[in-house]
Amino acid sequence: MPLTAAPTAEPAPPAEAILRRQRVRESAARTYARSFPIVPVRAHGMTVEGADGRRYLDCLAGAGTLALGHNHPVVLAAIRRTLDSGAPLHLLDLATAEKDDFTTALLESLPAEFAGGARVHFCGPAGTDAVEAALKLMQTVTGRRGTLAFTGGYHGMTAGALAVSGNVAVKEPLPSGGEVTRLPFPFRYRCPFGLGGEAGERVSVRYVERLLDDPSGGVVRPAAMIVEVVQGEGGAVPAPDDWLREMRRITAERGIPLIVDEVQTGVGRTGAMWAVEHSGITPDAMVLSKAIGGSLPLAVVVYREEYDGWQPGAHTGTFRGNTLAMAAGAATLRHVTANGLASRAAAVGRYLMTELTALQRQLPVIGDVRGRGLMIGVELVDPSAEPDVCGAYPADPALARRVREACLARGLIVELGGRHDAVLRLLPPLTITDEQAHAVLDRLSDAIAAAAPR
Ligand SMILES: Cc1ncc(COP(=O)(O)O)c(C=O)c1O
Repeated sequence: MPLTAAPTAEPAPPAEAILRRQRVRESAARTYARSFPIVPVRAHGMTVEGADGRRYLDCLAGAGTLALGHNHPVVLAAIRRTLDSGAPLHLLDLATAEKDDFTTALLESLPAEFAGGARVHFCGPAGTDAVEAALKLMQTVTGRRGTLAFTGGYHGMTAGALAVSGNVAVKEPLPSGGEVTRLPFPFRYRCPFGLGGEAGERVSVRYVERLLDDPSGGVVRPAAMIVEVVQGEGGAVPAPDDWLREMRRITAERGIPLIVDEVQTGVGRTGAMWAVEHSGITPDAMVLSKAIGGSLPLAVVVYREEYDGWQPGAHTGTFRGNTLAMAAGAATLRHVTANGLASRAAAVGRYLMTELTALQRQLPVIGDVRGRGLMIGVELVDPSAEPDVCGAYPADPALARRVREACLARGLIVELGGRHDAVLRLLPPLTITDEQAHAVLDRLSDAIAAAAPR
């Protein structure tokens, strides 16, 4: 498909009517629909075509779900094959050949030291369901209640997952959920200790360790620690490998199960099949969703056998056996591995980050470029304001919104995230071509230059 954003046809009459009906009939919690007032009618790879005939390069990719882009032939073939086979589409948690095959593909893809002897729990189909299940499992097994979670973290919107997430505005109107001890996530650009760089990372480790050992620190031994390897919704903030190894050491020494939330980082996204591979840590549990269903809803918790302490039916649910998602997911996992797409993500990610860092030198509104693999954040700031103690300027959410709009006008779908929603988040499919990567850079730099104050 051509990559240009030029209109290819007169706007189709129904699009405006559909958008109008959506505005009046759907809830005020509409999210992406507000950022991108388009009506997609076809999609292939990284390209989405709207009802108005315009084509967009999709750097959101289902919030990181579409490892192979939209409607990849391998995924479509797996779905068609399953449909034609007459296999039951819904089967609670009964055994099926599709589930058996998905479980094999999943365990084969995970780091061997973790997968060997691991158990897989199929839960409700969203990432938040898997987070909920993992927290509940660890509470059941340890007999403890509290959780250690990090500033800037995002784990979902159900009660337990929201309690461990960081976003204050979403939590504020609700009764406080769960016993959560909030710990400072290392963040070079906006260091929680006002130190920045490696110093901030070292202090984060020391703070966590001392807090947990302080008999007057107020922290009752928790059921688990939950952490993302790269904070996604938090604005593409990577955890340093050493820091993560330290979190593994600290939790292991104190008998605290470590849950790694790989809902967004999994399946090649960060330049490794699973983001834990960068540091080499072996968690006690991993929470997986998004890309594992090959664009259809699917979520699991994988955990070390010794934590399998649930009673039968302790965490049941109706939608735990989506046959099509398992077929699509198994095909996706195998395709990513067979085609080295994690390495491809690492290479394209490096290229994009290098180019964006060069652009930062020309455009001072770009405060920071960060990320790992194809999980990249470009933080927009106000360089005319006072910088903080680490030299970071205040976030500029209004500019970020203008840039998002300017991107859309140029045929590029880019969503915002991070604190104040001032981070442009690039999450393209792992199948992005060189030509598409160049087009993303062209459109993005043009949009930022056009939206930035002169
Ligand atoms: C790291 C992480 N965990 C959990 C979730 C929640 O997943 P879902 O939106 O499918 O409930 C998300 C969603 O973006 C996520 O990024």
